[in-house]
Amino acid sequence: MGSPAKSKAIPFDTFWYLMPVVPITASPHVFYIRPAPGWLELLHEEVISLVKTPLQKYKFEPKITLLKGTVKLHRCDWRQGLEIMLRLTTAHDVEWMILESKCNQWTEVDAILNRVPWNDILPNREIPIHVTADVSNGFTTASGKLRENLCRIAKVNHVSEGGVLRFKIELRSDFLRISVSLCGDPLYKRGYKAKLLATAPLPEHQAAACTRWVLAGVEPTHPVSSVFIPFAGSGTFGFESLIVLSGAGPGAFLRQFSCDIFPCTSEATMRFLRRKISEKLTSTPHPRLLFNELNSDAASTLKENAAAFSINSKFEIIEGDIFEIQPNFSPEGNILILLNPPYGNRLAKNSSISALYNRLGIYIQKLSESYSGRIIGGCICPDAHSWRSFLNGLKTPTQETHHFTHGGKEMRLVRWQG
Ligand SMILES: C[S@@+](CC[C@H](N)C(=O)[O-])C[C@H]1O[C@@H](n2cnc3c(N)ncnc32)[C@H](O)[C@@H]1O
Repeated sequence: MGSPAKSKAIPFDTFWYLMPVVPITASPHVFYIRPAPGWLELLHEEVISLVKTPLQKYKFEPKITLLKGTVKLHRCDWRQGLEIMLRLTTAHDVEWMILESKCNQWTEVDAILNRVPWNDILPNREIPIHVTADVSNGFTTASGKLRENLCRIAKVNHVSEGGVLRFKIELRSDFLRISVSLCGDPLYKRGYKAKLLATAPLPEHQAAACTRWVLAGVEPTHPVSSVFIPFAGSGTFGFESLIVLSGAGPGAFLRQFSCDIFPCTSEATMRFLRRKISEKLTSTPHPRLLFNELNSDAASTLKENAAAFSINSKFEIIEGDIFEIQPNFSPEGNILILLNPPYGNRLAKNSSISALYNRLGIYIQKLSESYSGRIIGGCICPDAHSWRSFLNGLKTPTQETHHFTHGGKEMRLVRWQG
């Protein structure tokens, strides 16, 4: 017998329509996870720890890859993707990659879009959809055409604002990728606050990331028995510290995620995961949480938010100037202090930022001397002046700084153990 004739390779995708339809839950999936700005490595660590501690058994063992701006989770059970999204505290968004396929010419785009299991994702064709389209190859046609093709094939309407589902279609050098956000609204919108303050607060995922980073730098000699949150505002730092310390996540609260309305999502799975995550928050013994706020309107908002958070926590709201109050910490255990002091136009009139941050450094230094070996904490510094002034006041040698971004501005977080 002669050697087989060399045939022209048939692309793998050619016979896709002959392939059996595999239920979404039966095959492994890829998810791209985007961090709170400036916290990619921390997000990576959080994903690793969640994958190691699943809330139930899954079919596949996921692989985790740290990419330039995202964490990629591959070979992941669909339901584990949901679990990770519901537990992640430092993520901005989790995108499920529905389909990725080789694509060398425009004529292939529609055929690929026809392979997306639209009926498994769209509850109906009337809901408003947001589509981000991105073309980064030699195709001359604009990304608008890509969006139009998606809308035509899926029979949906794109809206620029208020989309209930958020799709992404990307045409890179020779492949087309279609993904959808599992979350919809970004993950920092936790839904636990009864009232927000007018001022732009630190987003929840940033507060969680700051808390995690501070705790990661600490020798765990004692459990945290008190959390002290001066400059509390609407309370973000305090609530997020309880979420982080208890191992809960966004799924513990009353908000809907995009995946709740995908026909392929099992309601029973979501109910189970939500219950497990809520139990972490309600069944873990919480430290005493002391909030401090100077402004009486902010303090009353804080009271409403603390009541709405409604877990068996020992909240205490101390109204007054941080430099004049006497916080009452638990007699033993570590005291976690998280500071997001005012800056910019939130600073009191005629006060200097350097003076305030230096005074705070000295204040923390004195607390560390009074409660020797028990104080751990972090302070957000909005610029180099405030950061230097804070460190000049804080003499403790065990401190480190991390840079992150908030509202497009570079911020520094100092952590210390005293
Ligand atoms: C940067 S904001 C904190 C925002 C807060 N993290 C949030 O998420 O809403 C600073 C807060 O500190 C309060 N504040 C300012 N000076 C204070 C002082 N000397 N003592 C206590 N609170 C103060 C302000 O009223 C304001 O609510």
